[in-house]
Amino acid sequence: MNIAVLSRGEHLYSTQSLLKAGLARNHNMEVLDPAHCTLAVAQGKAVLYYYNEVVDDLHAVIPRIGASHTYYGSSLVRHFQSMGVFCVVGAEPILQSRNKWTCFQVLAKAGVSVPKTILGNVPDVEAALAHFGKGPVILKLLQGTHGQGVILAETHASALSTIETLKTAKARFVIQEFIAESNGADLRAIVVDGQVVAAMKRQSRSGEFRSNLHRGGTAEPINLSHVQENIAIRAAKALKLGVCGVDILESQHGPMVLEVNSTPGLEGIENTTGIDIATKIINYIERNKRT
Ligand SMILES: Nc1ncnc2c1ncn2[C@@H]1O[C@H](COP(=O)(O)OP(=O)(O)O)[C@@H](O)[C@H]1O
Ligand SMILES: [Mg+2]
Repeated sequence: MNIAVLSRGEHLYSTQSLLKAGLARNHNMEVLDPAHCTLAVAQGKAVLYYYNEVVDDLHAVIPRIGASHTYYGSSLVRHFQSMGVFCVVGAEPILQSRNKWTCFQVLAKAGVSVPKTILGNVPDVEAALAHFGKGPVILKLLQGTHGQGVILAETHASALSTIETLKTAKARFVIQEFIAESNGADLRAIVVDGQVVAAMKRQSRSGEFRSNLHRGGTAEPINLSHVQENIAIRAAKALKLGVCGVDILESQHGPMVLEVNSTPGLEGIENTTGIDIATKIINYIERNKRT
């Protein structure tokens, strides 16, 4: 099969890992840099040019769309979908999961447990904060990644002033209950084709509440409980993502989904668990091309 990885960084670990896995399975693998793609529609069909050459021989693409290229990247994925190319994640699921609020709405509709969350641009900040009692709250930009864009407001006064500042800056954000009992830990499950293929527990470094590896968190492999595995699978299904990373917080009311990542990094999880996730993604493509 001819399989392309859509990635701006040919040398990134995840891209390399996917290329290697595809080559080992005897596929023709290539990297397409979205920055060199030209999207066109003409004579009733979608046409794609890469460095001015028409691309019409791909069987599948693996989108690795960075957070700063969501609009263009998802448009490119939609283009491939309309050309009949199998995409391991579709354009609409990428858009829905990228926006944290939309993601929570989709999860809630599917009955997946999420922390109590309010969309940020509320008319009455005091009334919105009253929903969370006297405790600390989390404030979160809708499009943040790597833990950047997540604020822990420990007092009512800091929550109030930070929300007013975010509103004045016209930022788009949510107000969320702080799950203190997770103690800076969360779970990352990788779901491929409706199954959890790997999972790790991440722990924030001391003095930090964000467990992201980019923020200095550490990771260890973990076997998910049946309930944890189930919620990860339901989250992936709700967002219609063939491949995703699901972040789960253990609260006193059970596991809650914090976010669903349509372009999960493979380096941390492959190195932590020793599981070859890239090959599982290639196998998923192979299964879909046969059916
Ligand atoms: N409501 C919350 N309660 C406790 N910790 C949280 C909460 N929201 C986020 N965190 C911590 O912050 C990290 C980053 O938040 P997340 O929503 O996943 O944003 P990002 O997309 O930047 O990773 C999480 O992995 C978790 O450790
Ligand atoms: Mg996260």
